[in-house]
Amino acid sequence: MNKLYLTVVTIAIGLFSCQSDRATGPTDLAKNSIIPKPVSVTSTGGTFKLTAKSDIIVMPGSPEEVAGIGNFLAGKLNPSTGLGLGVITDGGKPGKGDIQFAISDTDPGLGEEGYELIITEKLITLTAVKPAGLFRGIQTIRQLLPPEIESDTVQPGPWIIPTGTIRDWPEYGHRGEMLDVVRHFFGPEDVKRFIDHLALYKMNVLHLHLSDDQGWRIEIKSWPNLTAHGGKTEVGGGEGGFFTQEEYSDIVQYAAERYITIIPEIDMPGHTNAALSSYPELNPDGKAKEPYTGINVGFSSLDTRSEITYKFVDDVVREIAALTPGQYFHIGGDESHSTKIDDYIYFVNRVQDIVESHGKSVTGWDEIAHATLKPDAVVQYWARAANAVMGINQGAKVLMSPCKYAYTDMKYDSTTVLGLSWAAYIEVDDAYNWDPATLVPEIGRENIVGVQAPLWAETISTFREAEFLIFPRLPGYAEIGWTPAGMRSWDEYRVRLAAHGKRIETLGIGFYRSPLVEWDQPGV
Ligand code: ACM
Repeated sequence: MNKLYLTVVTIAIGLFSCQSDRATGPTDLAKNSIIPKPVSVTSTGGTFKLTAKSDIIVMPGSPEEVAGIGNFLAGKLNPSTGLGLGVITDGGKPGKGDIQFAISDTDPGLGEEGYELIITEKLITLTAVKPAGLFRGIQTIRQLLPPEIESDTVQPGPWIIPTGTIRDWPEYGHRGEMLDVVRHFFGPEDVKRFIDHLALYKMNVLHLHLSDDQGWRIEIKSWPNLTAHGGKTEVGGGEGGFFTQEEYSDIVQYAAERYITIIPEIDMPGHTNAALSSYPELNPDGKAKEPYTGINVGFSSLDTRSEITYKFVDDVVREIAALTPGQYFHIGGDESHSTKIDDYIYFVNRVQDIVESHGKSVTGWDEIAHATLKPDAVVQYWARAANAVMGINQGAKVLMSPCKYAYTDMKYDSTTVLGLSWAAYIEVDDAYNWDPATLVPEIGRENIVGVQAPLWAETISTFREAEFLIFPRLPGYAEIGWTPAGMRSWDEYRVRLAAHGKRIETLGIGFYRSPLVEWDQPGV
């Protein structure tokens, strides 16, 4: 065989195999890059293809909201595929290339958010006990398609998914992030974009930090100066902003359509300078405080022995609770360094009664465990494990947000321009490499409701900057909350994460290209 012939044959084989790859796509479902990692995946070695004939079929008798989930999926798939998938609800039989949704209680082990995805060459069947499970399952379908599926313009495809079965459900019931809209204000469109990011990674809670020293961010009709005055400041002297009640309700609805619950936080008795500067009568000397636009903490406190304080808290909690379908109201409670401990305990106890009187359960930062907690209280562990343990000893559950691992506003390393570093530098492996159930010996799996990663906003003033801190840590937090710890390993995760670089980029997110991850590898 001469050299030229060999070269020609080699090139021909190369071309042929490339084309073949492109025509058939990946055929091993087990080699997926899904984040969070699914509980169980079985491959059958074939391929399913979306075509111009594909539709989304909603089984007759499904709850009405299932058609909405179909519309959500069609809204994700149609702009990039150009295939014009419709949502069929009239009992039409599924045909080749269709995606069928079914609600069924024959497999209760899937739970509230679990799903089963059976992919054959002909059909994808997505089954769940509850609509929330279908919604989580369609995120898996998105992630099984090439990253270009996230584009908002038509891409060439082909749109191929390997065949097999995925059975999947979350480890923890609470998986979320917190967004501080106070230190810098992020408006409704930014919050909705954040909700979309949570949805893609199967998170189910967005905690909104709505009040602090630097601003008050939600309209309270009975105390209008909170926003008329207190909404106009932010860190660094910017113009601030706030959500009208209509805008807040719209965010709650947008989240609910993605099976995400909003937890509103009014931080008190500390972190209250914006309220104290809006209403002189909340201050013991009857004088309004000056607005504050710095980043110190621990200097402000509501007057815990004044009845007007409790009238104020009652009005605020009542108005926000009425707009919030979720079970929990977050009362803050952190860093009240200028409140005497007896006053703090008295305050938290009274505020818990107020929250309960408006039909909500209490959650708060770990310091609230100094008070006498209600049986359904959730303590958000961020700083002091001893506080969380004090909560557990009272029968409370713990939400894990350890600042050394889960604070999304911490710098990645010493060279990161945005973010703070008082808790730690949190590289992408540090963010991933911890187990909520073993981090603190006295806090066991049975005590924990879930994982939440807070994003404080002292150093970020645009949502692009927020996204740089959020990504690529968010997918790791999502996986910690969803995937059993025994199935997780950084070495395996980092390969899957690399495959998300293109996806995240296609979503228009300027993310941190951690040197620990081999982004942009061909073939992943
Ligand atoms: C907090 O970071 N002060 C809860």
